[in-house]
Amino acid sequence: MMEREPIGVIGAGWVGLVTAACFAELGHRVTVRDVVPERVAELQAGRVPIHEPGLDALLERNRERLQFTLEIEDVFRDAAVAFVCVGTPSTYSGDADLSAVSQVLEELPEFEERAILVMKSTVPVGTGEKVRHELDARGLAHVGYVANPEFLAEGTAVANFLHPDRVVVGSFAQADGDAVATLYEPLEAPVVRTDIASAEMIKLASNAFLATRISFINEIANVCEMTGADVVDVARGMGLDHRLGRHFLNAGLGYGGSCFPKDVQALKQLAGNSGYHFQLLNAVIEVNELQKRRVVAKLVKYLGPLRGRTIALLGLAFKPNTNDMREASSLVLASRLLAEGARVRAWDPVAMDEARALLRGVQLTDSLLEAVEGADAAVIVTEWDEIRDATAPEVRTAMANPLIIDGRNMLDPETVRAAGFRYEGIGRASSSLRALAEAEEREPDLQA
Ligand SMILES: NC(=O)c1ccc[n+]([C@@H]2O[C@H](COP(=O)([O-])OP(=O)(O)OC[C@H]3O[C@@H](n4cnc5c(N)ncnc54)[C@H](O)[C@@H]3O)[C@@H](O)[C@H]2O)c1
Repeated sequence: MMEREPIGVIGAGWVGLVTAACFAELGHRVTVRDVVPERVAELQAGRVPIHEPGLDALLERNRERLQFTLEIEDVFRDAAVAFVCVGTPSTYSGDADLSAVSQVLEELPEFEERAILVMKSTVPVGTGEKVRHELDARGLAHVGYVANPEFLAEGTAVANFLHPDRVVVGSFAQADGDAVATLYEPLEAPVVRTDIASAEMIKLASNAFLATRISFINEIANVCEMTGADVVDVARGMGLDHRLGRHFLNAGLGYGGSCFPKDVQALKQLAGNSGYHFQLLNAVIEVNELQKRRVVAKLVKYLGPLRGRTIALLGLAFKPNTNDMREASSLVLASRLLAEGARVRAWDPVAMDEARALLRGVQLTDSLLEAVEGADAAVIVTEWDEIRDATAPEVRTAMANPLIIDGRNMLDPETVRAAGFRYEGIGRASSSLRALAEAEEREPDLQA
């Protein structure tokens, strides 16, 4: 493979590691810097500290081209281009916490040569402008700045990076943008070249719009429950319209994770700080908060007061194929159930270490079967494939009361009911015309 120019990556989290592994796969030597010594030591020893399908293999295959370090100087020893992939979580005010970005700027060495800092972290609009001023004030006017937001999704991050729908490159100077766009040429993806502020906004607006779709379909689901419609059919019927598309129309327990909650909040605050009340996003956030709690009402409908009841939570990560539990719906649900006096058992195929650190007062189990043992209800929180086993006869026997609340609409209601469970999904007709029609259609068979 052609040897391509060395690059640097600052921050070895989801975005940093995937960026590093993928650029190494494209032929670059990549130096990755993090500030957590244990993380760097693990990576140096060939262990990957996150669960992301395909990432281990990619890092292993490109081991010779990858170097992990605690020293920022190492990053710029060979590389002229460095991707900033540090975390930008929410602060108490809901604004993005840019302290890790500031730390990177403070630590930058005195460059003699030309270099480019590429912001991959999600940052508020206006960040690039501020960074530019800071660099200039520090005598680093020759260090270029490019906004190159990342759109990968955990669980499919490697594929998303290598086959992106688009690459967004915002720059102050055309040449800096050109240099970054060139790095992506082998991916043959459409490149959106724009100014820095627009690149920053593309990322925030994209996540806010995806979150809006989720809250929208969740509200449709809630109205479906009151009117006898089935949101799965409704979403399918909507999604086949090419103007709408089918993605992000799955009703459920609401969105979570390290991006949507904080990015939607950050855009709302950004608008507010600029004097604009972003009314729609307020609703998106509120609907999402309430959606996580609706499960409690569903449980009460079947079980009455939850004090002393045992509820099993199946799946804890914020979505399947990741061990990330940041802002996971399971966290809110577990707290609500404990507050109602329920005993909570929980299991996840990969996120148990993370769960141990975050879920206080919850009994974590080694298997799905152990979680449902003696339970009055099981709630599907994350749609892991492993949870399809929830309808197995041994699960039914193990439960004190075979009730499944499917928070992700991942199971087929008829199959679950046929397996002897009571079942309720989100926005799914339990006595809709369709269910009645299906029952009637079966009548002749029953009589035969
Ligand atoms: N996770 C996603 O799915 C995703 C997708 C798109 C964009 N983003 C954005 O990308 C950014 C990174 O997200 P993430 O999920 O990879 O975060 P993460 O928390 O998994 O990783 C951030 C890493 O940066 C390290 N770090 C902090 N300060 C540092 C410094 N001064 N120098 C070097 N390393 C430092 C941390 O130790 C950590 O390992 C965020 O802005 C996020 O919003 C994330």
